[in-house]
Amino acid sequence: MSPNPKSEIRNQKSVLLAPSILAADFARLEEQAEQALQAGGDWLHIDIMDGHFVPNISMGPLVVRALRPLADKTGALLDVHLMITEPERFLDDFCNAGADRLTVHVESTNHLHRVVESVKQRGVRAGVTLNPGTPVESLLPVLADVDLVLVMSVNPGFGGQSYIPASTGRIREIRQLLDAAGLDAWLEVDGGVEPENAAEIILAGVNVLVAGSSIFGGSAPIAENVAAFRAVMEGQ
Ligand code: DX5
Ligand code: ZN
Repeated sequence: MSPNPKSEIRNQKSVLLAPSILAADFARLEEQAEQALQAGGDWLHIDIMDGHFVPNISMGPLVVRALRPLADKTGALLDVHLMITEPERFLDDFCNAGADRLTVHVESTNHLHRVVESVKQRGVRAGVTLNPGTPVESLLPVLADVDLVLVMSVNPGFGGQSYIPASTGRIREIRQLLDAAGLDAWLEVDGGVEPENAAEIILAGVNVLVAGSSIFGGSAPIAENVAAFRAVMEGQ
């Protein structure tokens, strides 16, 4: 009998959607973020880029602070993804601005363990992430210490890129590592995620989907795009 992906998805623990505001219209940022949350988004994913760790500059703690009232009003979490060199220099700024989750790249610091501990000491949940070219093993030293593991499924720096197919195998590998160690950290995927590939990604073991251009880009209404994700997430 062939497996039925829809019923397999229905049997999994709940999957969350984190709209990535990088693809939003910044002149209408709060309005668009609110639309995405009201339509069924769970977290707001905020991409911080410094023009050094990645070849692009995006936004800083001011934007996190500006979205805090919306997060409080809706109950959404602010999921902050730091694509910056030596994130230890800016932990206070992002924690004080109101981040709920702070995720750092294993490639961005010589002091990964210290950074993770520093985030937690500030009362914020710590996440760790890795580029598509970085071995999965690089997560091992901090796997038991983090609340979230983010798998980059594109090379970070820009929205609107295509999902790298090898990411699915990497997600499966990390899911096995987490399960074998009895860890219940969130497993999140970021880059090129769309309703068309979401089922495959969820079945590989992810429970948070980040989506930017497939929610805020294009001409379809934001609510319609979110609904397309929710249908896949709920196995409909
Ligand atoms: C890429 C960012 C992503 C980006 C995803 O460096 O980390 O969060 O917003 O955008 P899409 O969904 O358009 O690939
Ligand atoms: Zn991101």
